[in-house]
Amino acid sequence: MRLYVNIDHVATLRQARRTDEPDPARAGEAAERGGADGITVHLREDRRHIQDADVRALARTVTTVLNLELGAHREIVRIACRVKPFQATLVPERRQEITTEGGLALRSGDASVRDAIRRLQDADIRVSLFIDPDRVTIDRAHALGVPAVELHTGRYARTWSKSDRALSALRRAAAHARAAGLAVHAGHGLTYRNVQPVAAIPEIEELNIGHSIVSSAVFVGMEEAVRRMRKLVDEAISHRPSAVSETPDS
Ligand code: PXP
Repeated sequence: MRLYVNIDHVATLRQARRTDEPDPARAGEAAERGGADGITVHLREDRRHIQDADVRALARTVTTVLNLELGAHREIVRIACRVKPFQATLVPERRQEITTEGGLALRSGDASVRDAIRRLQDADIRVSLFIDPDRVTIDRAHALGVPAVELHTGRYARTWSKSDRALSALRRAAAHARAAGLAVHAGHGLTYRNVQPVAAIPEIEELNIGHSIVSSAVFVGMEEAVRRMRKLVDEAISHRPSAVSETPDS
């Protein structure tokens, strides 16, 4: 299980004053020291947090891998192709939203996502699609020829304390995507309190977590905030069905 840490909100804090601190590249280094397997940032069209210069700096300083989230906009795709992150995660993007609200619909008439996938893959960038955890959308993602999908955990994050339904949907979606040959990632709204049931889903191999880790970093520092999330994720993996079945009965 890879833990990728989304550091957008380090840039949100900096942009609140349009100054030069805190520095996302430094946050990325601290997250790596705390056990992050990758650093994720979202270069939004409106540049509300991460700036082009941040992406270039992170491409130089990240020693694990850089996962760049982006909408299927020509200009942003062009920047991605130039920077060449290890992975590009395509997300839907609406200007008015506070954060990414839903997954990509992947309707057949939508040429922009298809075009973005082609251009990113031509630049040798691994492409993942951020989608809702439902079979139809997973099948559409598979048909687009990408190696990976990130399942949107937003509904789970909103409802986990009241109902198991969203977790069951994530489990079914992860199994379906894996059976289709897709690598399965997950993220959005995951916190120290709700991460473990998702991390325990055997097909999920990558988590992208931002807001909760950056919030904790305000009090304990980035390195320690990542270390605490890493510990929870590792604990959950040890309870995955395959690991449990390896335990002798006696
Ligand atoms: N995955 C994707 C595709 C996202 O857009 C975001 C938010 O930028 C995240 C994961 C991380 O979500 P959160 O900040 O709620 O942990």
